[in-house]
Amino acid sequence: MFILFVLLHFIICQQQDKLTYVHLVPHSHDDYGWLYTIDEYYSNRIIQFGWDYGNIRDILNSVYNEIQKNPQRKYIQVEIGFLSMWWDRQTEDVRQKYKDLVKNGQIEIINGGWTMHDEATTYFEDIIDQMTVGHQWVKDHLDVIPSIGWQIDPFGHQSTNAALFSQMGFNAQWFARVDYQDFEYRKSEKRLEMIWQPQEQCEENYIFSAVNYKHYDAPTNFYFERDEQVTPYNVQHKAQEFVNYFKQMQRSYRTNHLMHTMGQDFAFSKSEIWFNSIDNLIDYINSRKDQFGMEILYSTPSKYLEEINKQQNIWPVNNNDFFPYADNSNAYWTGYFTSRPALKGLTKDAGRYLQAVRNIISFENIQKRTNVLTVQFDFMYNQLEYYEQQMAALMHHDAVSGTERQHVANDYIKRVCEGQKKVRDFLHPLLQEYALQDIFESEIKYHECHWNVTSSECEITNSLISNNKPILISIFNPSVKRQMNIRIRIPQANVTILNDKNQFLKTDFICSNPENKTDCDLYFRDLFQGYSFQHYKIVFFNSNYHKNVQPLQIPEDKTQIKIELSSISNLKIDLQAKKFTYQTWETSQKYSDFQMQQYREYDFSLNYNLYYSSQDWGQSSGAYIFRPETQQSHTYSEIKNIVVYQGQLVTVVLLEGEHVTTQLRFYSANYDKVIEVETFVHPIQVQNTGKEIIMVLNTGLQNNKTFYTDSNGLDMQKRVLNFRPTWNLQLQQEVSGNYYPIGALISLKDINSDQQVSVVTDRSQGGTSLKEGQIEIMIHRRIVRDDARGVGESLNEVDQRNQGISQKIRHFIIFERQNEQLSRRIQNELDASPLIFFSQTKNQYFDYRSNSQNRNKIIENQNIYLRVYLRAYKNYYTLRLYNVNDISSAQFDIPQNYQILEELTLTANQSKKSWSEKQMKWTSNNGKVYQAQQDNFQKEIQEGKFILKPLQLRVFKLNIVST
Ligand SMILES: *[C@@H]1O[C@H](CO)[C@@H](O)[C@H](O)[C@H]1NC(C)=O
Ligand SMILES: *[C@@H]1O[C@H](CO)[C@@H](O)[C@H](O)[C@H]1NC(C)=O
Ligand SMILES: *[C@@H]1O[C@H](CO)[C@@H](O)[C@H](O)[C@H]1NC(C)=O
Ligand SMILES: *[C@@H]1O[C@H](CO)[C@@H](O)[C@H](O)[C@H]1NC(C)=O
Repeated sequence: MFILFVLLHFIICQQQDKLTYVHLVPHSHDDYGWLYTIDEYYSNRIIQFGWDYGNIRDILNSVYNEIQKNPQRKYIQVEIGFLSMWWDRQTEDVRQKYKDLVKNGQIEIINGGWTMHDEATTYFEDIIDQMTVGHQWVKDHLDVIPSIGWQIDPFGHQSTNAALFSQMGFNAQWFARVDYQDFEYRKSEKRLEMIWQPQEQCEENYIFSAVNYKHYDAPTNFYFERDEQVTPYNVQHKAQEFVNYFKQMQRSYRTNHLMHTMGQDFAFSKSEIWFNSIDNLIDYINSRKDQFGMEILYSTPSKYLEEINKQQNIWPVNNNDFFPYADNSNAYWTGYFTSRPALKGLTKDAGRYLQAVRNIISFENIQKRTNVLTVQFDFMYNQLEYYEQQMAALMHHDAVSGTERQHVANDYIKRVCEGQKKVRDFLHPLLQEYALQDIFESEIKYHECHWNVTSSECEITNSLISNNKPILISIFNPSVKRQMNIRIRIPQANVTILNDKNQFLKTDFICSNPENKTDCDLYFRDLFQGYSFQHYKIVFFNSNYHKNVQPLQIPEDKTQIKIELSSISNLKIDLQAKKFTYQTWETSQKYSDFQMQQYREYDFSLNYNLYYSSQDWGQSSGAYIFRPETQQSHTYSEIKNIVVYQGQLVTVVLLEGEHVTTQLRFYSANYDKVIEVETFVHPIQVQNTGKEIIMVLNTGLQNNKTFYTDSNGLDMQKRVLNFRPTWNLQLQQEVSGNYYPIGALISLKDINSDQQVSVVTDRSQGGTSLKEGQIEIMIHRRIVRDDARGVGESLNEVDQRNQGISQKIRHFIIFERQNEQLSRRIQNELDASPLIFFSQTKNQYFDYRSNSQNRNKIIENQNIYLRVYLRAYKNYYTLRLYNVNDISSAQFDIPQNYQILEELTLTANQSKKSWSEKQMKWTSNNGKVYQAQQDNFQKEIQEGKFILKPLQLRVFKLNIVST
C-alpha cells in the first residue's frame, strides 16, 4: 500500500514536471508622449500607422470593467503618470474597487515609475526621482510597493540602471531591445534570462534580468484586436497553433515555466476581445493538459518570477550593459544619444535645479527663518510635486531621448517650464525674505536668467545695465564650501563687482562675441560657503580691480605664441596648424610621503566635422538611428581666426569658424589641467541632405582602441573598438556601431604612462574613439528624412526664422592622472552649478546686517564627491547621500540634530531591511550564490557616521530638529 502510494505520487510529480506552464501577461504599452502629447493620448482618437489605437481613458476603463467579469483575469499597469490622470477622474467607489483589484492581485503595478524612462540619455539622479514620484504615488493611493522593473521599450540598457533597480527593491526586470546578434546568440544558448551583476557595483546590487522572447507583442496571430479572435468554433486549431508556438519558445528557456506578453502599444481599449479569446484558449487547453503537455495561466511577471525562483536552477551571469542597440546591420540606434540637444540640455539643467531647490526648501522647513513655508507648506509641496512630475515626464523614453514629434517636444518643454514657474512662485518670495534679513534693501524682486545665445536674452540684466543701474546678485552654492568662477552675460558697460562687505572683487570683462561686440561676459571669483547664499552687486565704478580685457595683439608674421595662464601653466598656440600645447607643473602623488612636481605637456587640437546622414531608402539616418553616408567624416567648420583675451582670472581663446564659434576658457586659479570649452553651433544649413555635427578632440595619448564612457553619470564602462565582450561582433557600420551614450564623461587612458584625458559633457550625447588618442562626440544633428522607426517625422528642428536651431554646448577637457578623479570632480562641480538670482537695487553699496545668518549649518559636508540632499515630506525628511567617486569611500558625519529613523530603498518607499528580506537568492552557473547582504546600519548609527563605498547611493528617513 505504502509503496503504491509512493509510486503514484512519483508518477503524478513526473507528469506535472513534464507540463509547460505558460504565463500570459496582459498589458498595454502606453507611451507617455510620442506621436501625440500626454493629454492627446489620454482622451483623443489615436491613429498610428493607419490603425486606430486605444486612448488611455478607454484602455483603463475597459480593463477595469472587463477584469471584474472573471477573477482569473489579470493585467499589469505600468505607467503611473497615466494611471494618476485616470484616477483623478474617478469616483470614490471606482477607486475603492480598483484598490480591491490591486489587492486581490488581478491588477498588478509593475515598474511603477511615473513613466518608463529612457536609459541612454538619462542621469542617475533624474532616474531615481522619476521612479520615486511613481513609487510614492502608488504607495499613497494603492498601498503597494512594486517589485519588478519593466523596461520593454527603451533602446538599450545601462549597467547603472540595473543596479539602481536592484536598490529600488526590484527582484527582476524585463526588457526587449537588445542587439539583434546578441539576441540570436542568447536565444540559442538559453541566455535570455540572467543574473545581471554590474561590474563596477557592490555585489548586492544584482538583479535577475530577462529579455522578452517576442519584443512586447502577443504571439504571432494572437493580437486579438486585429487578428482572428478565438471562439468556440475555431478554438481547436487556434489552441494547437498557440501550443506549438510555446513548444518552440521552450527550446530557448531553462525551466518549464514560460512568460509571454499579451498586448502591444495602446492595446486593451477593447479588452473584452482580449480577455474572451484568452479565456477560450485557457479553458480549451487546460482541460486537455495531458494532450498538450501545457497549462496556460493568466499571470504577471512577479508570479512567474516566484515560480522560477522556487526551482533549483542555475543561471548565467551578465556583467555588461546592452549598448549600442541595433535591430539590423545598418540600424544602430545611436543617433538618439544626441537628438534634440536643446531638449537634452534643458532636461539636465532642470534636473540640477530641482536637486538644489529641494535642499533650499528643506533648510527653510527646518530653520523657519521666514513665514513663507509655515503658512504655505501644502501649497509649496504641491507646486514642487508638480515640477517633479514634469521632470519625470521628461525621463520618458520618447522625451529626453529626442524621438518624439516636434509638437510633443514643445509640450514637454512647456510642462517643465510651467513646473519651474510654479517653484519660483514660492522660492523667490522665500529668498527675498532671506536676503532682506541679510542686507538692508527697500525691495528685492528676483529674476532668473538663461543666456542661450546673447546677453539680451536676460531682460533684467540687459535693461538695468543699459540704463546704468546697479544689480543685486544673490548666489546659492548647492554644494560644499568652494571657490567658484562666476560668469554673467551682460551688455557692454563699465561695471565691477562688489561683495556684501563692500569690497571690490577682481573682475574680467570680456566682449568676445564676434557677432555682437556689446555682448559681454563678466567674470569674478570668490569663496562660497557650503549650501548657502551670498550677495554681490554689479556696480558702475571704474576700479583697479576691473579689467576690460582687450584682444591680444598678435603680429601678422607670428606662427606661434605662448601665453602664461597661471604661475604653473602655459598655453602654446600654433597659429597655422591651429594646434595647442598645454604645459603645466603637476603635483604627483606617486610617493606617499612627499609630493613631486612633474612637468607635463599635452598636445591637443579641436575640430568640428560632420557626417552626411544616409538617405538610403533601405535605412536612413533619423531621430533614433545614426547612419552616416560614408564611414568618413568631413570638415564642417574650419577655425578661421584665433583671438586671445588674457584677463586676470581667465584666459579666453576664441576660435572663430564659419559654422561654429568656440571659446576655450582657462581659469588661472582653477585646478590645473581643466579647459572649459563652450561651443556655439550656428544654425545648421541643410538642403536635401542631413548633417550630423561632431566635435573631435585629438590628443597624443595612446589608448589602444580602448575608451571609457559613464553609465547614467555613474559607473565607467570599458569600450573596445569593434568589439563586444559577450559575443563575436559582425560590424558593417564601423562608425555608428562604435557609438556609446555619454551621460557625463568619456575618457581615454594612455597605455604607456599614467595619463588620462577626459571630457565632461553638460548634457547627454553620443560619443566614441575611432582613432588613437581621439575623442569624438556628436553635438548636434539636423536631418531631413525619417528613419522608419515610428516617429514619422524628420529630425529637423528650426527656430522662429525657420533656420536650424543654434545651440550652445559646454564641455570640459581634463588632462589628469589615471585614478586622479579630477574629471569626477568637474562632473560634480557642473552638477552643482550655482543658482543665480538677479534683482534691481536702489543702492550702489551694501548695508549689511551683522546678525545675518546666511551660512547654512544644516549640512556639514566638505567632500566634493559626496552629494547630500534633503527632501521635506509632510512629517519627515529623506536624506539622500550619493558618493560620486570611483575609488574612495565617503564619510558622512550624522549631525546631532538628525534623528535617523531607518535606511530606505532608493525610491524611499520601504525600509532597506524589509527589502533585504524580500531580495531573491539566485545561483549562477559557476556556483556563485547571489543574495542579500547584511548591513551595518545599527553600528553606523552608534558611531554617528555613514560610510559610502565608491559610487554608492543611500537614502535615509529622518527627523530633524531645529537648532
Ligand atoms: C532659451 O532657454 C529658455 C530656457 O531654457 C527657453 O525657454 C527658451 O526658449 C530658449 N530660447 C532659445 C532661443 O532657444
Ligand atoms: C547686440 O546686443 C545688444 C544688447 O544685447 C542689442 O541691443 C543689439 O541689438 C545687438 N546687436 C546686434 C547687431 O545683434
Ligand atoms: C567705459 O569707460 C571708458 C573710459 O572711461 C569710456 O571711454 C567708455 O565709453 C565707457 N564705456 C561704456 C559702455 O560706458
Ligand atoms: C592592446 O589591446 C589588446 C586587445 O585588447 C591587448 O591584447 C593588448 O595587450 C593591449 N596592449 C597594451 C600595450 O596594453
